[in-house]
Amino acid sequence: MASVDAPLPQFTDAKSKATTVLWQVYHRPRAQRKTIALSVIALIFVFYMLPSSSKRPEPDFWTKFPSQHPFPERPEDAQVILPPRTDININQTLPHDLDKPNPRLHLLVPASQGSRGVCRTLTSAMILGYPPPTLVGYGHDVPGATETERMVEQITRARNYIRDSKTVHDRDFVLMVDGLDTFFQLPPQVLVTRFQNLIRTNNQKLQEKFGFAGLDGRPVSENVQKYTQRVLFGASKVCFPGLQDDPGCASVPESTLPPDVYGWKTDSYPDGHLNRPKWLNPGAVIGQAADIRLIYDEVLRLLDQSTKKSGDYQALTQIYGRQEVIRELERRRTTNGVKEWFYRLVGISDAANITGISLRLETGHRYEYGIGVDFESQLFFNQIMSRNDVEWVKYNNITKMSMLQAQHGVPREHRLLLPTDISTLPNPYYQSPFAKESTLRPVWNATLDKLPDPNNTSWHNSPLMTNVHSGHIPALAHLNGDPKLRNAWWEKMWFYPWARALLRKYVRSAHGFDTAQSALLGGQDWLEVRGGRGGIWTDDETWITLAEVCNGQERDLFDDGLGLWSKEVDDPDEPVYNQYGSLISGKEESFV
Ligand SMILES: *[C@@H]1O[C@H](CO)[C@@H](O)[C@H](O)[C@H]1NC(C)=O
Ligand SMILES: *[C@@H]1O[C@H](CO)[C@@H](O)[C@H](O)[C@H]1NC(C)=O
Ligand SMILES: *[C@@H]1O[C@H](CO)[C@@H](O)[C@H](O)[C@H]1NC(C)=O
Ligand SMILES: *[C@@H]1O[C@H](CO)[C@@H](O)[C@H](O)[C@H]1NC(C)=O
Ligand SMILES: *[C@@H]1O[C@H](CO)[C@@H](O)[C@H](O)[C@H]1NC(C)=O
Ligand SMILES: *[C@@H]1O[C@H](CO)[C@@H](O)[C@H](O)[C@H]1NC(C)=O
Repeated sequence: MASVDAPLPQFTDAKSKATTVLWQVYHRPRAQRKTIALSVIALIFVFYMLPSSSKRPEPDFWTKFPSQHPFPERPEDAQVILPPRTDININQTLPHDLDKPNPRLHLLVPASQGSRGVCRTLTSAMILGYPPPTLVGYGHDVPGATETERMVEQITRARNYIRDSKTVHDRDFVLMVDGLDTFFQLPPQVLVTRFQNLIRTNNQKLQEKFGFAGLDGRPVSENVQKYTQRVLFGASKVCFPGLQDDPGCASVPESTLPPDVYGWKTDSYPDGHLNRPKWLNPGAVIGQAADIRLIYDEVLRLLDQSTKKSGDYQALTQIYGRQEVIRELERRRTTNGVKEWFYRLVGISDAANITGISLRLETGHRYEYGIGVDFESQLFFNQIMSRNDVEWVKYNNITKMSMLQAQHGVPREHRLLLPTDISTLPNPYYQSPFAKESTLRPVWNATLDKLPDPNNTSWHNSPLMTNVHSGHIPALAHLNGDPKLRNAWWEKMWFYPWARALLRKYVRSAHGFDTAQSALLGGQDWLEVRGGRGGIWTDDETWITLAEVCNGQERDLFDDGLGLWSKEVDDPDEPVYNQYGSLISGKEESFV
């Protein structure tokens, strides 16, 4: 394969020399100023000519390496969350062509067996109303396999599922989370909307930074933005160990948080706990299926050449770093030299650090994946090195909320308010008035279904895990720090005291009036079309109940002494219906 070496150092050196010359010029005595002023103008003129004269021919990095995405439409414009429809009423008959036209959301959870961690991931996802999770690799544990082999198997199965499953379409959204240590905190509509808003904002900035690329033979109006974000991972305060000089650690973009957000030692304290998160962590990712697939195709290609235990993490770090180097090379190729030099001089350059980076780039190979990270933990919070950054707070406590940031030493602190994307959500404690009379399973039981009074309990006075420094309430937390904290943190989550009742409410919501109506409306407000509640799909398209995976974990999930999940009273097997009203599992209900 042909290759080019990254043409970096020369260019930079010429500029820093010019900077030094000018710097000396400015420090001469008054008398010489006039001549010097003229020299400066001359110098700038020379400098302006410099890039074109000293530049060796550089490849057009955008064209030379595949940079276009599987389809031109942007994920931020996809209609995953639709407004409720009012134009069809409940008496109309079922449309016969029942397909959900807009993209769906799929929740993928790699896990080969049930465990306390996996069951907490699944339970919190269900309580928050995520579509039924798909367990990847469940029941496919190869006895005697090494940790590396297991990891490769998991990633291969996840990629194959996204590629081959008939239910996953290219434009569908895929949310993949670490099965062992993820707690969901906010519902899917908040996560998806924040993801779209975040990349919309970031893509505006990327447009200003990198501009457009003209496509050969097409009119200017069809120019495409060179680089965009399409997939977000969580951001971490630490980079993958041992890669310090790799672009994945050295060249990634700076955080959007203020440079003093953790006080004056921000980004400089040795152990890293005061770093602003900016490195990729693979524990949670969201994006469209086609984009995610490209990334994991490349991860698998790189894994073929490595045998490390966390090879996937290393591969993703390197993929992100190389993407940023190519973007920077393309930016330097097209940038205005004087502007660039001036921005550096006054310290407002947004250039990526590619000093000392030397890569062998393969012609025709893809380095552009639309990867970004969620700097401020609006979506994903990574616990590692961050255990002291969060508190569980009730937003209606004004005393507490106005002191919170000051207590954590956040500069320019202000009172945190409950964001509107949460305050406008339905009250999570509200029970349908039909639940009590209904014969639907799980059958109403005053003890098991007890929730706080929704007249005085809501998101405003539920304890929400808040990243005090960024001021955001993450949609989910990845507990990749000290494992000893997992039990304590689970018990602090807002839903924990009511977890069993909330889970029963979620299961019941699957086959009541709401579902019938949803089916009638073409399932258009379902995030995932296969339906079913209270159970889990596997990547080989079988349906298993939560009880099958998690019975025995009740003490760690609920700690309420009310017995095994779904076997609290002598219920027969739960019947589970899909959105067409057909039975997926369990016994048909007998109507009396
Ligand atoms: C459905 O039809 C019934 C009887 O025809 C009527 O009483 C009811 O109001 C209708 N419901 C809606 C939502 O239109
Ligand atoms: C750029 O990265 C190199 C490592 O590749 C590092 O030594 C250097 O300090 C970095 N420069 C800046 C300004 O961060
Ligand atoms: C509000 O927060 C303060 C300070 O943490 C606490 O002392 C007080 O009990 C809280 N009030 C309520 C109503 O929770
Ligand atoms: C909540 O308030 C409504 C009306 O204000 C009342 O009908 C309902 O019974 C109350 N709910 C509870 C659980 O007290
Ligand atoms: C809500 O009201 C009920 C009585 O209806 C009371 O027992 C409970 O303590 C109240 N909860 C809060 C958080 O004020
Ligand atoms: C409700 O559940 C509790 C706890 O499992 C049980 O003891 C009680 O008998 C149940 N009540 C009814 C009416 O089924």
